[in-house]
Amino acid sequence: MIGSFSRMVPVLFGPGASMHTGLKVKQAGIQKVLCVYDQGIKSAGIADKVIDNLKEAGLKVVIFDEVQPDPSDILINEAAQMAIAEKVDGIVGVGGGSSMDAAKAINVLLTNPAPINFYYVATGNEHKPGKFMVLIPTTAGTGSEATPISVVSDIPTQSKKGVIGPATTAALAIVDPELLLGLPPKVTASTGMDAFSHAVEALTSKGMNPMSDLLAEKAVSLIVENLDKAVKNGSDMAARTNMSFASLIAGMAFSDALVHWGHAIAHTIGAHHHVPHGVGCAVALPAAVEYVADAVPDKVQRVAQAMGLSIPKDLTPLELGIKVADAIRDLNRGVGIPSLKDFIEEDSLEQLVDGAMTDDCAMFGPKQASAKQVLAMIKKAYEY
Ligand SMILES: NC(=O)c1ccc[n+]([C@@H]2O[C@H](COP(=O)([O-])OP(=O)(O)OC[C@H]3O[C@@H](n4cnc5c(N)ncnc54)[C@H](O)[C@@H]3O)[C@@H](O)[C@H]2O)c1
Ligand SMILES: [Fe+2]
Repeated sequence: MIGSFSRMVPVLFGPGASMHTGLKVKQAGIQKVLCVYDQGIKSAGIADKVIDNLKEAGLKVVIFDEVQPDPSDILINEAAQMAIAEKVDGIVGVGGGSSMDAAKAINVLLTNPAPINFYYVATGNEHKPGKFMVLIPTTAGTGSEATPISVVSDIPTQSKKGVIGPATTAALAIVDPELLLGLPPKVTASTGMDAFSHAVEALTSKGMNPMSDLLAEKAVSLIVENLDKAVKNGSDMAARTNMSFASLIAGMAFSDALVHWGHAIAHTIGAHHHVPHGVGCAVALPAAVEYVADAVPDKVQRVAQAMGLSIPKDLTPLELGIKVADAIRDLNRGVGIPSLKDFIEEDSLEQLVDGAMTDDCAMFGPKQASAKQVLAMIKKAYEY
C-alpha cells in the first residue's frame, strides 16, 4: 500500500502557547492581521487575550467576531469582502471548528476571486495559497488546526461542503490547552466525541495508512482515558492537555485517511437540523462501526484494543462490531451525549438518506452502502 504522510502542519503545543501568537505572526513579516472568532470566544475572554498579544507584538488587528456555528457560504463571502477592503496580510482564527473553518475559508478569498462556493471539493476547482494563517483551537474536537479542510454550510443545497487546499491549511497551529479551561461540560463532551470519531473513522477508513493508524490509535486511548475527567472537572489541566493533544493527532490522522459513514451522516444531520457536529458524530459512530466491521475486522479489533476492551477471540466480525459499538454508546452516555430525539422528529429521518449518500465522506467508507443500509444506520443513530 502507498500511504501519503503529507498533511502535518507545524505546531506549537502546550499550556501558555497562545501567548506566543503575536511573536510568531510578527516573525512571519505580517503587519496587519485579521482575527476571526465568535461571540462565545469573546465572552470567554479568550479573544481579548489573543488580540492584546498580537497588539503587544506591534501588529495592527482587524476583527471579525460574527462567526456563527457551522459557518455558511453567505457569512464567508461577506466576511471576506470586509477583510479584502482592510488589506490584511495575515489571518488568525481562534475558537472551535466554526471559527477556525471560517478563518480558513476567508483566507481562500483573500487571494482568489469570490465566491467560496466556486472552490468546493466537488467542483474540482483549485485555489492558490492564501495569506499567512495561524489557527488556535479552543475546543478539543475538530482538529481543524491540523487539517487541510474547511467545512462550509452551503445554504442553497442545505449541505456541508469541503474546501481543501493550501489556503485552508494553517501555516502554524498554536494549541494551548489553557484556553479550554472554561469550556462548558456539554461542549467538552460533544467536541471530544468528534475527535474520537475522527480517530475511529480514520482507523477504519478506505484511506488509512500506517501513520494515520498510529496517530488514531493513540488518540482513541487518550480520549477514553481523559474525556470523562475533562467533562467532570473542566479545570483538570492534565485532562485538558491530553484531550488537546488527542484532538490534534486525530486531526492529523484523518487529514490523510479521511473519515466515512459516521461523518457523512453527522454532516447531513447538522446541515438539516443544526445538531452540534460532535453530537451528530457521537451518535452516528456506533452505527457506522457496526456497519463496516465485516469489511475491516482487524481495524475494529485495534479500536477495541485502543479502548482497553477485553474482547473474546472467537467473535465473528459482526459480533465484534456490536461489542465495540456498544462500548462507544457507553462512552457517549457516560459523558452525557444527548439523543437525536431531542433535536429531530422520527418521521424526518428518511429525508437525511440522500444527503448522507452524497456527502464527500461517503466515498471513504471501507464498504459501500445502499439507501436502505444508510437509513438503517441513521435509525440506529436515532435509537442510541
Ligand atoms: N475542518 C475540519 O477539519 C473539521 C473537522 C470536524 C468538524 N469541523 C466543523 O467544525 C464545526 C464545529 O466546531 P466545534 O465543534 O469546535 O464547535 P464551535 O466552533 O461551533 O463552538 C461551539 C460553541 O462553543 C463555544 N466555545 C468554543 N471554545 C470555547 C471555550 N474555550 N470556552 C467557552 N466557549 C467556547 C463557541 O463560542 C460556540 O458557542 C462544524 O461546522 C464542523 O463541521 C471541521
Ligand atoms: Fe468531525
